[in-house]
Amino acid sequence: MPTSDSLMHGNEIQIERVRSLDPLAADKRLARLPQINAASDIRALSLLLGDLLPDPGGLAAFDTDHCIAAMRDLGMVLGSIKRHGQEPLAVVPRATPVLIELGARTDMVPRDVVHHYCTWNPTGDRERMYTGDGQERYLQDSVRMVFPHLRAALELCHILQDCDPRDTKFAVLLDALNREVAPMIDSIDLVLEHVSPRYFARDLRPYFEEVVVDGATLLGPAAAQVPLWLVDEVVWASDRSSADYLGFVHHSVPYSLPRWRELHDGWVGTPSLVTRVLRAHEDEVEHAATIPALRASAKSLASVLRTVTVFRGRHMGIARQAYQEDLRLYPVGSGGASVDLLREIIDLTRENAHLVKAMGQSRRPVGAGTA
Ligand code: HEM
Repeated sequence: MPTSDSLMHGNEIQIERVRSLDPLAADKRLARLPQINAASDIRALSLLLGDLLPDPGGLAAFDTDHCIAAMRDLGMVLGSIKRHGQEPLAVVPRATPVLIELGARTDMVPRDVVHHYCTWNPTGDRERMYTGDGQERYLQDSVRMVFPHLRAALELCHILQDCDPRDTKFAVLLDALNREVAPMIDSIDLVLEHVSPRYFARDLRPYFEEVVVDGATLLGPAAAQVPLWLVDEVVWASDRSSADYLGFVHHSVPYSLPRWRELHDGWVGTPSLVTRVLRAHEDEVEHAATIPALRASAKSLASVLRTVTVFRGRHMGIARQAYQEDLRLYPVGSGGASVDLLREIIDLTRENAHLVKAMGQSRRPVGAGTA
């Protein structure tokens, strides 16, 4: 059952607390996980999953943060068993009701998601890892570093929803949004510098496979769950998306945090910022006094879209290499989507950037109502 504090998942105090918790006494046992995985020891993994399960009394005494930490730790073993070819809950069926209860009490899906694997994962000696390779740590850090900024970005999007593009505040908010989205570029640069496509494709990717929980097939905790789609939704995608990207978003929503799912519910079907700026531009002649503010809005909006495009361009580079035919083990990403979809999303982002950029430079209405 969702608790009221579950809506607060993801604030800094909560993240630090979850990282510090070890409700299943898993610290020492999970430190051996990379060794067990290197030996492909399915028997040891099954025993580990069974040993970590809390008894009903212990589980009942957990608060929300304990439940999140417990899901994080069980999740590491789920992904490991699946990587070695077994469906984890077929091997340890008594884990199923525990996962269902942990999911329900945290208002999240009944398996670990990217926030468990990265954000809520402690750093240092207690860090939970599948392979123990330094490249895995860089990937976890790359998600950790964007998470607080995305949280701030989404709250800014929420405020922008109620702001008029002719208001001078609109550009100020967009510039703040741009500053919160920019760390996505630092994040992918960190990965490009320290993670080889071969390591990702051959060693790490197999741990992010889907697992079946109580009949539902649930995706692994990979970076594709980082909700850039939710920023897109406000900026351009609520009314300028494609069927494929909408499908990806539809499948991604359940893996998101409660607060972000709530934001998504409120944003579906609303006019995007791009559409609102273009429409305001059409009315420009009637509202001559607001022209400078509107141009500033268009310029700032174009800057946000450019930042997202830069991230996506660099991200595409490593995704293409990791999924080239002679390297990959799987035809699609762990988020269930292909490199072709990444290309489509970049193209859409660019198209929208060009529209508002052209508007920032021209006095004539451009492309309004093209959604
Ligand atoms: C070796 C590194 C990486 C590879 C090979 C890779 C590959 C992919 C692939 C193939 C997809 C398509 C969806 C799917 O997985 O099903 C995807 C999606 C995505 N990835 Fe990555 N990725 C990597 C690292 C990262 C990092 C570090 C981040 C951000 C911190 C990230 C953020 C995203 C996002 C937000 C999506 C959704 C599509 C979008 O918004 O453009 N990825 N990735």
